[in-house]
Amino acid sequence: MTQPLLGMRVRHAGSGDPLLLLHAFPLSGAQWEPQIQALAERHTLLVPDLPGFGGSPAPGEQYTLDDVADSLAATLDRYRVPRVAVCGLSMGGYIAFAMLRRHPERVARLVLADTRAGADTEQARAGRETNAQLAETSGSAAIADKMLPSLLSPGAPPALVAHLRALIAGNAPRGIALALRAMAQRPDSSDLLGAIAAPTLVIVGADDALTPPDEARRMQEAIPGCRLVVIPDAGHISNLEQPQVFSQALGSFL
Ligand code: MLT
Repeated sequence: MTQPLLGMRVRHAGSGDPLLLLHAFPLSGAQWEPQIQALAERHTLLVPDLPGFGGSPAPGEQYTLDDVADSLAATLDRYRVPRVAVCGLSMGGYIAFAMLRRHPERVARLVLADTRAGADTEQARAGRETNAQLAETSGSAAIADKMLPSLLSPGAPPALVAHLRALIAGNAPRGIALALRAMAQRPDSSDLLGAIAAPTLVIVGADDALTPPDEARRMQEAIPGCRLVVIPDAGHISNLEQPQVFSQALGSFL
């Protein structure tokens, strides 16, 4: 069944070859501020707040990550961008896989950061439902308390922890719950890896506790011609913990 397109606020900045930046759960497009600053001189940046995050409304009904990919393809049409470099971090990476599945012709280059190709295990799905109900009953701050310890490396500066906490707590609980259920439903994308035609880079924080370097390496080895960058002193949200190193890796790949 064709789903209605999901409304997303999209930040549009810079000029040059287009780059779509897809943020992690449960953040917003604001996650990419350092990369917007670093790359806007050479790239047209399209930075959505994914459905239910930042300035994008929570959809009225449960959606899938494939619905997000279709809505992003429509967004690219609106900006008259036929092909785009796609960089997705964690949940953003899951959506990049959905784009590969549904709109491979739109993906000119691919960056998979701190993410995984596999689907959730039954245990992970159950954990997501627990967290969805926590968001609905206790609010976004409870999700921030639960997730923050696993998002950054142990040495992350308190100001960055506070910044992430504010981003998470600023999101509507319903948007968080819907995204958790959408991630739980996503299919396994491992079979796609060997057939990825777009030049691809995998980036991972050396201290990423959620999608660790071993997993990134396995993904890199399965993608033809793929390169891997491991960022020292960075956890899961590696683009914010080591913004210059991340931007440098991304910029030189593009
Ligand atoms: C993210 O950073 O987007 C999340 O950790 C993804 C997930 O929960 O699988």
